[in-house]
Amino acid sequence: MSPYKAFQISDSVFWVGAKDVGRRLFDALIPLPRGTSYNSYLVLGRDQVALVDTVNPGFENDLIERVSSVIDPRDLNYVIMNHAEPDHAGAIPLVLKTSSNAKLVTTPTGARMAKIFYSISNDRIHVVRDGDSIDLNGKTLKFLETPMLHWPETMFTYLMEDGVLFPCDFFGSHIAQGMWDDEVDDLLIHAQRYFGEIMMPFRISALNALKKISSLNIRMIAPSHGPIYRNPGKIIESYWRWASGETREKVVILYVSMWRYTESVVKVLVDELQSWGVSTVVHDVAAADLGDIAKDLVDSRAIVVATPTVIANAHPLAVHVAYLAGLLKAPAKYAALVILYAWSSVADKQLIEILKDTKVELIGVVKINVTPSKNDIESLKNLAKELSMKIMGRKQ
Ligand SMILES: [Fe+2]
Ligand SMILES: [Fe+2]
Repeated sequence: MSPYKAFQISDSVFWVGAKDVGRRLFDALIPLPRGTSYNSYLVLGRDQVALVDTVNPGFENDLIERVSSVIDPRDLNYVIMNHAEPDHAGAIPLVLKTSSNAKLVTTPTGARMAKIFYSISNDRIHVVRDGDSIDLNGKTLKFLETPMLHWPETMFTYLMEDGVLFPCDFFGSHIAQGMWDDEVDDLLIHAQRYFGEIMMPFRISALNALKKISSLNIRMIAPSHGPIYRNPGKIIESYWRWASGETREKVVILYVSMWRYTESVVKVLVDELQSWGVSTVVHDVAAADLGDIAKDLVDSRAIVVATPTVIANAHPLAVHVAYLAGLLKAPAKYAALVILYAWSSVADKQLIEILKDTKVELIGVVKINVTPSKNDIESLKNLAKELSMKIMGRKQ
């Protein structure tokens, strides 16, 4: 008897994934304060069975055991690969070995990736295109091509009779706790972090996908990370906002401080911005969680980078975070820089060069020679005013 249990989520669907409670880093970059999960789902038709996505390498045993608690894993007919990344496809070689008659179902691009990543031969692959379906005898899986969410091969699978959408990473959240959305109080925050980290650079693809699923009768969203949404309205509505690049009257201030001079200047700027009614979120980059920064980049209308000067350049962490804001294609419209220096005042050049790749309008650069003079304070006040007017769409 299997030690692990499958968890039934609808008439014909069982969760058979794995919880990685202790994982603390993803992509060698993103902190996971609450771990993550690799959700895999078993869909039972009258006499055909499909497995939707698999698990991260190292969790194959969890998957096979959970499948075994429902069916004999050798009886699988299809393994659906919505996405080829190893956290969802890493167990495919073992599953296909165990289920020697099962076919891997994926997009044409996915088929190429299955060969590159997992050495899956052509005769084991069943290629599907947008709108194709597979009848499991009584249960129908419909496939929707949704490229660049967040790799070129990505697709969604929709179980028509149960109204369950399997969108893989889309609508995901890195959180190990809870099976259902209503069991996690701060789920929307984790979902926003995830959107910022993974989906934000692909907002146009995200909008296309949202349009594509808008005509479906979605009763449940079963993503590949985090809880399952049995109340899908809120997350769909949030995704429309985030994918549209809808920002708030909010500034995210990303600062680095070695001797607290930069930090004290940031405090002045924050007070000024707040006095104009603008919402501010401040991150000390050296101590901050990059996921929190990504979350705030999702809906901030302006970004301020404040940095000390290190060997005539911006501090490496300021460079890192400015690069990240550009890489993640944050929807902010405006930016400003605050540079602290002792004897070389050209560190802004490097940051301006990095920000050139983004669509932000640079509102101003304030350079301060260690401690702010009266004029510097005036410059900070003016910068705060100008930023606030821009953010609130007012004329000065
Ligand atoms: Fe992924
Ligand atoms: Fe993933």
